[in-house]
Amino acid sequence: MKLRFREDGPLVIDLPAGSRFVLNGEEHVLQKPKLALCRCGRSGNKPFCDGSHKNYGFRAAAGELELG
Ligand code: FES
Repeated sequence: MKLRFREDGPLVIDLPAGSRFVLNGEEHVLQKPKLALCRCGRSGNKPFCDGSHKNYGFRAAAGELELG
């Protein structure tokens, strides 16, 4: 599994659309082929990124983390 850190943006996990995940015991189905998680702390929909990082000048380097 690979995690991508977008420059000045969220942590992104690429997964096939339709993938299932469980958040706090509740099952969800991905509508898009990725899961974008907030790393700026400003999202109104944590743990997901809602684009708020663009309004607050969040700065962070891009990168990748590969697991397994
Ligand atoms: S990284 Fe996008 S709202 Fe926090």
